[in-house]
Amino acid sequence: MAESKDLILRNIWYLALAGEALPKGQLIHRQIANEKMVFGRDTSGTPFALRDNCPHRGVPLSTGHVLDNGNIQCCYHGWEFDSQGICRKIPALPPDSKADITKIKAPKFHVREVNNMIWVYIPEKGSQADPQRNPPDLHLASSEQFRHVESIVLPTNIDHSVIGLIDPAHVTFVHQSWFWRSAKSLKLKTKNFEPTDLGFKMVRHAPSANSKGYKVLKGDVSTEIFFEIPGNRLEHISVGSRHKVISMTTLTPIDDQHTELNQFFYSTLGITRWLWWPLKRLGRTFIGQDVGVFNKLADGLKNDPPLMLVGEPDAQARWYYELKKQWYAAQEQSVPFRNPLKSETLHWVT
Ligand code: FES
Ligand SMILES: [Fe+2]
Repeated sequence: MAESKDLILRNIWYLALAGEALPKGQLIHRQIANEKMVFGRDTSGTPFALRDNCPHRGVPLSTGHVLDNGNIQCCYHGWEFDSQGICRKIPALPPDSKADITKIKAPKFHVREVNNMIWVYIPEKGSQADPQRNPPDLHLASSEQFRHVESIVLPTNIDHSVIGLIDPAHVTFVHQSWFWRSAKSLKLKTKNFEPTDLGFKMVRHAPSANSKGYKVLKGDVSTEIFFEIPGNRLEHISVGSRHKVISMTTLTPIDDQHTELNQFFYSTLGITRWLWWPLKRLGRTFIGQDVGVFNKLADGLKNDPPLMLVGEPDAQARWYYELKKQWYAAQEQSVPFRNPLKSETLHWVT
């Protein structure tokens, strides 16, 4: 299906997969923003991505093999490509062939691996231009690694998925559980927001008194929550003066109707290492609750109903659309992106 206009942002980085999901010597297929890609690692371990079609007759390169020299060998006629997508060997050509096979290329995508996350740059359609900016700031030193918690496909497009991610009002009803919070303890929340490079952040504050999840963290706890386009939410929790816990959720459009959600976690607290499996299960329970409601939403959207965004609880969703609009305008006029948002205080009951 063709990509509908203005749904999927281009000239921007998307999370492709967790570093550990791409072992050396393997080829992994991924569809991202309607582009089919093959991911692999070169002999030095650096990840790369090529369009997942052999330039010869179109067989997916991901169905081929990685050779000892790091080249990908197509399974059909054995053509070999290096990590830049350049053809290095055509086994059936006679040895005295004068053909310059290095002119044959599988289009490549720009890829960066940061803190155990592999990012891919989705350029303008058909363009091979260099990235205009870096992957998002993950608030970690280069030696620190995120742990991957979960990867799940949502049955909704990128816009509905993002809005679901940054929507404060569903928490009371979707994530209601005895260990977290209950609808009986609703409180009026006041949160301050400031614009960031590509989005906005909920300014550092002490967590809500009715969020029991934070209570396991002893000491002076404060949290700051970032959202940036195309679909990255990062929560940075400080515990005392020395410790931090970071939870990151990324949304990557697969096509116009499906979005992959990935959840990552980082912590300097020893206790989270001991509690890793229960924590991972808790994370999965949360995401599972979201997926449950996303399935219902996808069902409802089949009727193509009119939708609305109302008041302060839906302000962040409106900001998301403003950021997207501005992104498209900047691309169209070939000018740098300027964040259109202003600092604001929002109120809602959860
Ligand atoms: S299709 Fe790949 S080598 Fe022929
Ligand atoms: Fe949720």
